Amino acid sequence: MNVLIDSIAASVDLDRPSAPVVDPAHRLRRTRRTPSLRALVRETRVHPRQLVAPIFVQPGRGIRSPISSLPSVDRVSPDEAAADVARYVELGLGGVILFGLPAAKDTEGSGAWIEDGIVQETLRGLRTTDPDLVLIADTCLCEYTAHGHCGPILPDGSVDNDAAIERLAATAVSQARAGADVVAPSAMMDGQVAAIRTGLDAAGFTGTSILAYAAKTASAYYGPFREAADSAPAFGDRRGYQMDPANFREAMREMAIDVDESADALLVKPAMPSLDILAAARARFELPIAAYQVSGEYAQIEAAAQLGWIDRRRTHIEALTSIVRAGADIVITYAAADLATWLREGTDR
Ligand code: PBG
Ligand code: ZN
Repeated sequence: MNVLIDSIAASVDLDRPSAPVVDPAHRLRRTRRTPSLRALVRETRVHPRQLVAPIFVQPGRGIRSPISSLPSVDRVSPDEAAADVARYVELGLGGVILFGLPAAKDTEGSGAWIEDGIVQETLRGLRTTDPDLVLIADTCLCEYTAHGHCGPILPDGSVDNDAAIERLAATAVSQARAGADVVAPSAMMDGQVAAIRTGLDAAGFTGTSILAYAAKTASAYYGPFREAADSAPAFGDRRGYQMDPANFREAMREMAIDVDESADALLVKPAMPSLDILAAARARFELPIAAYQVSGEYAQIEAAAQLGWIDRRRTHIEALTSIVRAGADIVITYAAADLATWLREGTDR
């Protein structure tokens, strides 16, 4: 820096600033000068209707129990879920995605597809008021299996893919019957989208959409979710079925296959660690693209904000804007309610 200043000082008379040494040809700062100029040229705008809030439901009444690693997210009973949904409609959110904490777990994960399952009960309750947002059901077995894996276990300890997709189809049908607009298979089983589409159509639910968790990695960022859903695997891990975060081309294959199996929208997860995949998905596919800003991404921001190390509001808005800029049409985020409020107030403050 000093070398530069010395050389400029040597070539010009600094007492006469009317003779600048350099006149930049391009002055990009012109359109950054005022809040209104910045608002006029802003390329990425996020609308609350693009946001989806996760809800963890458990049996009971009047229950609202906090999740220590997910500040301001609770596990709620169906009546409290209805109260949350009413608030989200007020805030103008686009949808909610339901995760269930069953009364009991078994080796099969039958709580996922039974008629009086917790997600089914919650959906039926929400459907009675027909709220003006989209009801999405996460379709997986890991919250319902005693071992915490996303399908039944074979003698060698691996997850039985073809048995899992049959059960996922049954789960999706029961969710559709209970009132889900969209089912979102997250098990990363091969053929899950085709199996669910076939099952839904056979049961008469030709209008129920599939949001396919297409590119979902075996991520360390799911930690807080597993506390919330009590779904950590009892043995092993999910690397035998979820993707290796190192693989980009394989993510493209996963998405192309889910399109071929007639997914209605594709989901990339986690979000910020996968911005390259999101951008490529946006360029390559015409389907709506969703991103899931997962529990660990949210918890990182919350923890740093609690420590006073970052500004909570600005960081959440920046993360969301980056995810949308990369290509997401829809963002699932634990900050959805706060973000909707902030977006209405204006992001440039
Ligand atoms: C279930 C499921 C998980 C998440 C969404 N659906 C957990 C997992 O795969 O272990 C993670 C979401 C989050 O971390 O917020 N398969
Ligand atoms: Zn699962």
